[in-house]
Amino acid sequence: MQFDPVKILITGADGQSGSAIARLAEADGFFSVIALNRKQLDVTQPERIVAALDRYLPDYVINCAGLNSADRAERDPQRAMLLNAEAPRHLAVACGDLSIPMIQLSTDYVFDGHYASGYTEEDATQPLGAYGDSKLQGELNIRQTLPRHIILRTSWLFSDRGDNFMLRLLSEARESSVMYAVDDRRGCPTSAFDLARVVLAIIKQLSCGAEAWGTYHYCGAEVTTRYGFSEAVIAAARQYEDLKVDHIQPVASKDFVTEAQRPATSVLKCGKILNVFGIRQRPWRSELQRLIREYYGQVRL
Ligand SMILES: NC(=O)c1ccc[n+]([C@@H]2O[C@H](COP(=O)([O-])OP(=O)(O)OC[C@H]3O[C@@H](n4cnc5c(N)ncnc54)[C@H](OP(=O)(O)O)[C@@H]3O)[C@@H](O)[C@H]2O)c1
Repeated sequence: MQFDPVKILITGADGQSGSAIARLAEADGFFSVIALNRKQLDVTQPERIVAALDRYLPDYVINCAGLNSADRAERDPQRAMLLNAEAPRHLAVACGDLSIPMIQLSTDYVFDGHYASGYTEEDATQPLGAYGDSKLQGELNIRQTLPRHIILRTSWLFSDRGDNFMLRLLSEARESSVMYAVDDRRGCPTSAFDLARVVLAIIKQLSCGAEAWGTYHYCGAEVTTRYGFSEAVIAAARQYEDLKVDHIQPVASKDFVTEAQRPATSVLKCGKILNVFGIRQRPWRSELQRLIREYYGQVRL
């Protein structure tokens, strides 16, 4: 039987999540993919959004554009609001005019991190800084504007490309014999490709008639700390490269000063996405092994 592929338009398509979603969707005959980077579609410009949607008429818009550094957001809260709150509103308005549903990526930083057991979608939000404030405002803007939306909160994204914790660790491990990593903040690393799998699985179900709009959590399985994740990354990378680092020193977050305050517990509970979409958390450790293998396949040392 012939069917028309589901056309998805991805914004911020050169970033970690945008490029992973595009790569996975392009390899899946269910989708046709319009992947637009910042030059091709600046999401802060409403008239360019309208023109792009009129031109491509996608079945779904996936917004992966944003200002994603908590420290940069603290330095420039206005820019954070522009990218993380105003731009999603412009997208939601334009999507609403053409009856296009929208998928928005959001973050564990909408919570203050005081619940040691982790957060469900129903728990009260209370961002600690400008980044979380702007992402939360983006969520509210979409809920107020576009009933047919999915807001997918995730945490600690890592990938074999872009600016992320895993690649920063590897650079540091080549330069320093001792590295320091925070050991009292807990969270769940999430591979950008695992997140992409989840986004595409949700869209497949929506395309087949599921009416399951709303807010969901998804992150990799197994709670760890930045220290635990650092150890896993270095151990995985040592299979391929002789790194300079010989010791990772665990440190308390109070001794590791950053511009933005970060939640102590970033654990997102993922029961709702399992109940509604049947999507199970995958262990981040196996994703890490796969990504490190791919990374060393493409990097010349
Ligand atoms: N990374 C994490 O650890 C993490 C954790 C939880 C949730 N999230 C959420 O996941 C989403 C995506 O994160 P990510 O890690 O994929 O981010 P990313 O790698 O930083 O990608 C963001 C992309 O947005 C683009 N962009 C910036 N300004 C733009 C504009 N005006 N118009 C269009 N595109 C623009 C950037 O392009 P340039 O590079 O050219 O500026 C970049 O390619 C965000 O909503 C974030 O809040 C991320």
